[in-house]
Amino acid sequence: MTTETPPRSTTTDALWNSRFLRACRREPVDATPVWLMRQAGRYMAEYRSLRSRVSFLELCKSPELAAETTVFAAEVLGVDAAILFADILLILEPLGFHLEFPKGDGPVIHDPIREADDVGRLRPLEDVGALGFVYEAVGKIRAGLPGTVPLIGFAGAPFTLACYLIEGGGSRNYQRAKTFMYSNPGAWNDLMTVLVDSTAGYLNAQVAAGAQAVQVFDSWVGSLGPDDYRRFVLPHMRRLFQMIDPTVPRIHFGADTGSLLELQRDAGGDVIGLDWRVELDRSWERLGPDVGVQGNLDPIVLFAPRDEIARQARRILDQAAGRPGHIFNLGHGILPTTPVDNVRALVEMVHEFSAR
Ligand code: CP3
Repeated sequence: MTTETPPRSTTTDALWNSRFLRACRREPVDATPVWLMRQAGRYMAEYRSLRSRVSFLELCKSPELAAETTVFAAEVLGVDAAILFADILLILEPLGFHLEFPKGDGPVIHDPIREADDVGRLRPLEDVGALGFVYEAVGKIRAGLPGTVPLIGFAGAPFTLACYLIEGGGSRNYQRAKTFMYSNPGAWNDLMTVLVDSTAGYLNAQVAAGAQAVQVFDSWVGSLGPDDYRRFVLPHMRRLFQMIDPTVPRIHFGADTGSLLELQRDAGGDVIGLDWRVELDRSWERLGPDVGVQGNLDPIVLFAPRDEIARQARRILDQAAGRPGHIFNLGHGILPTTPVDNVRALVEMVHEFSAR
């Protein structure tokens, strides 16, 4: 990301000067920007009502409904950025895998990668048009959002996607994925290379369609120790960040990565996402002054009494101490039974407590 770059075609002056994009560039802001991972979802009655009529995949593949869902959540919450309604796993379909979200269960990837030879089944996403419904949704969201609210595009990181492709779904220990990685380093590199190329094309197409920033979700990378991250993930993440359009801020999020923060920073990103298991001030010191930080309230705190929510929001803002480059968020996504009123109250508190 370059501070000097003039606003791009989809980034008007009003967007360029928004709190969120200013914070991404580590410029001073009038109040700390806040948005929340999974801000559109089952904790909202309107979302549940929509989902009673259409399946999750139908919703993701309808640009109209995906756009409505994104814009509605951003409006109701009064957040400083919207995030595209989609899923990190959508890219696996054009790569050649059959994806399903069974009712009440986690996602399933049918016929997963089990042997080194299976990597050959992966079709590189050269034709980014394969996910045209996502880019169409981005255009509709941009048209539906106020001219001051930036839109964040996103994708899954190659390690997290590889875990899904090899495990065939969620996992506790990532035993299959990690065994594959240790046993077939060559095939692992080939797999990660295809995922990086495809993900970079996917993210850049979202930017071209109207996203003002992107977030890369490496949700499961915290299952690796530092040496494994260095060997099996870092070179690929570095290449991914080098390939993403440098005119938009890139947020690099991982969960449970307290032992990997410096390595994640070295891999790339203008803003590093922190979960609640680390202290924001101490982590920012470790990361150094050249990146912003996003986070890091425990999503479970949103189930607590208001005074506890306020206490913890203040603590995080105190740890950021008004330094340019903090974006308030949760340490991971909002849980499905979270009280909506507490979410709205949190957004108000962040703005009120941080007003300069
Ligand atoms: O943040 C947002 O509001 C944007 C939408 C968004 C979704 N998924 C919608 C969704 C985003 C950014 C994601 C990312 C995602 N998806 C991640 C990375 C973030 C993280 O939590 O670490 C991961 C690991 C996935 C994969 C995924 N998708 C799982 C494991 C599940 C099932 C678990 C669950 O929470 O239901 C999904 C389904 C999913 N993705 C839902 C939503 C709103 C729920 C679907 C439904 O039943 O309506």
